Amino acid sequence: MRVVSIVGARPQFVKLAPMAKAFAAAGVEHLIIHTGQHYDAAMSDAFFRGFGIPDPYAHLGVGSGTHGSQTGSILAQLDPVLAEIEPDWVLAYGDTNSTIAGALSAVKMHIPLAHLEAGLRSHNRAMPEEHNRVLTDHAADLCLAPTEAAMISLEKEGLLGRSVLVGDVMVDVCLQTRDIVTANPVDAPWDGNDDFILATIHRAENTDDPKRLADILSTLARLDLPVVVPAHPRLIARAKEYGLSLEQGSLRAVNPLTYPQMVQLILKSRSVVTDSGGVQKEAFLLERPCTTLRQETEWVETLEGGWNILDPALSLVESSALRAAPQGTQLIPYGEGRAAHTVVSELLGRS
Ligand code: UD1
Repeated sequence: MRVVSIVGARPQFVKLAPMAKAFAAAGVEHLIIHTGQHYDAAMSDAFFRGFGIPDPYAHLGVGSGTHGSQTGSILAQLDPVLAEIEPDWVLAYGDTNSTIAGALSAVKMHIPLAHLEAGLRSHNRAMPEEHNRVLTDHAADLCLAPTEAAMISLEKEGLLGRSVLVGDVMVDVCLQTRDIVTANPVDAPWDGNDDFILATIHRAENTDDPKRLADILSTLARLDLPVVVPAHPRLIARAKEYGLSLEQGSLRAVNPLTYPQMVQLILKSRSVVTDSGGVQKEAFLLERPCTTLRQETEWVETLEGGWNILDPALSLVESSALRAAPQGTQLIPYGEGRAAHTVVSELLGRS
């Protein structure tokens, strides 16, 4: 069996890490196509090196652009590469422009398409990620769902016959990294013992409106603890464009973190404030309280027991960011950390 993974953005490299290992362990021929959507060393190379992911077979170097130009450029460049490789499966990850471009290219070339992290829904049609994930699920021959809730969404959309619950591959990598950094801490930009809040903001709905971004930054700047902000290139670019400081009040902007640094800082933090899907779930798995600056979450299980609180109006974060972790053990609804192996078995069983 020959599988091609199509990836391009940081969260996809995190999901690729356990998949690449699982394919290698099963003796499956696995090739990687990097679209180049994320190109900064800290957003891309650091993840390939840090996780020991093999070099991509092809790098499309697409870079930044509007949704149409970015997606279209990936799509146009993929055809000859996929024709050359002739894979048995294309594996698309998550919900980025690289995902939808990979999905379209595969189905139009009649190559079986599997979608990892299928069935997640925000039901917010203003989000580019929502279109990417819905369209990719409907194009896919196999929807690999991380949760029961995702399976229910797939069933509602008539996709149950092509769907299978595999668990979440991010659990595999998050819990392994937790054990590694707990045994051997890594150097990180916030090494002291001082209490702090970890915040990440990068979603278009929060960064691309000057008033909204100004409100978020000034709200975080007023919190009573230092707020460490690993700054995504989109956040840096928009803040600069709108003349907003990432160093005001409690804010402490730092460069994007490696994955072990991120896990270590989440573990050490009082709480997490974010608009990232992955970070919400990592906070949950690492048992830190989270405040999410969005109207909705695809990872609805994180809301149970008060681990994650949605605060689109920025009216709760002043207190919720300082709260202690909820009492009692939480359920792990995302699988036991063997999702990548389950994915490989499902693909092998269908080849
Ligand atoms: C993308 C995904 C989003 C995911 C996020 C993780 C889409 C539609 N969105 O958003 O779902 O949560 O990745 O990071 O695919 N830039 C750089 N260097 C880089 C990458 C980006 O400078 O290495 C800058 C560029 O100015 C670019 C901007 O960041 O215009 C945004 O990048 P883009 O590819 O549009 O998506 P993200 O906002 O990162």
